[in-house]
Amino acid sequence: VIVTVTLNAALDVTYVTPGGVRPGTTHRIRSVAQRAGGKGVNTARVLASLGEPVLALGLAGGASGAELRAELDAAGVPHGFTPIAGTTRRTVAVVDASGTDGVTGFWEPGPQVTGEEWQGFRADFRVAVRDARAVVLAGSLPPGVPGDAYADLVGMASGAGVPSLVDADGDALRAALSARPALVKPNAEEALRALGEGPANGPHHDGASVHQVPATGEHGCPADGPRASGRGSSPLPLSLARRLVAGGAGSAVVSAGARGLVACWGGRLLAVAPPRVISGNATGAGDAASAALAVALARGLPPEEALSRAVALSAAAVAAPLAGDVDGDVLAELEPLVAVRDLT
Ligand SMILES: Nc1ncnc2c1ncn2[C@@H]1O[C@H](COP(=O)(O)OP(=O)(O)OP(=O)(O)O)[C@@H](O)[C@H]1O
Ligand SMILES: [Mg+2]
Repeated sequence: VIVTVTLNAALDVTYVTPGGVRPGTTHRIRSVAQRAGGKGVNTARVLASLGEPVLALGLAGGASGAELRAELDAAGVPHGFTPIAGTTRRTVAVVDASGTDGVTGFWEPGPQVTGEEWQGFRADFRVAVRDARAVVLAGSLPPGVPGDAYADLVGMASGAGVPSLVDADGDALRAALSARPALVKPNAEEALRALGEGPANGPHHDGASVHQVPATGEHGCPADGPRASGRGSSPLPLSLARRLVAGGAGSAVVSAGARGLVACWGGRLLAVAPPRVISGNATGAGDAASAALAVALARGLPPEEALSRAVALSAAAVAAPLAGDVDGDVLAELEPLVAVRDLT
């Protein structure tokens, strides 16, 4: 089974309005949809839809936590969220039905988690990793969870012989590197923040446990050669992947939206672009990429297969309107067309 961890899970609420959001006015909502969300939950949903055995873990509490669990039951996604006294956050996305204003988001910070609740989660995780082939640790940390939580969990999984994939931002990702996760998959902005160069983190980090990135990777990739900067695309994500491995990750995949992704994997620098740009909802595309990469970790697949599957599956996720869903026709169309370029 692949275990996903979503410590700051959410009940994603989508409001559709006939026009855009106008500050200082009342809006009549045309339709309301609710589903369980958060990055690890999205990844679990994709894995379940592929028929892959999965278990979604995390923290959930209050009425919205109960709704989150019920929605996962209805969707057929096996889960075992650790109960907390606080109330699971909601993320509200207001969609303008006319299409002109796009999506306006309201993200709650997440409930305060007590030390006892965090220890309860660690105990549940320790039991679940015994049967796991891979674990996915994804998204932000709620208030009260230690800043080095991912390093802690990666260490517990490694102790049980289970590889970890970490998909996180800034400080949470940087702290995870010290525990040497098998694979990390940030997008380029998140990788920049983890390496200490981007603008400050979002509202979710609590500033604890900021580790220096050690320069001691075992499977280091060569510096970007002339081919790495070809085709008019910036070489930046390539050097980010290389530096994440130098910082402690076994392998690093850095995604760059419609440009695709780059990887430093087994001492090689690889780049993969989608065969065509898909229009749709790119939120959750990275979570679908993580699903493909987790399957590759669980099965020990070679990097070419892992990365081409990740690019096809994430493009299929863009084509499906809701995060965590994939369009099967787009997946079948694109998968045979994806080509991996070796830039080593
Ligand atoms: N418009 C698009 N068309 C085709 N493929 C896309 C498009 N946008 C993204 N992708 C694919 O999805 C992958 C992940 O996208 P992105 O880098 O935006 O992830 P992300 O920022 O981590 O997303 P999220 O965290 O919301 O899931 C990319 O590497 C690319 O292969
Ligand atoms: Mg992402």
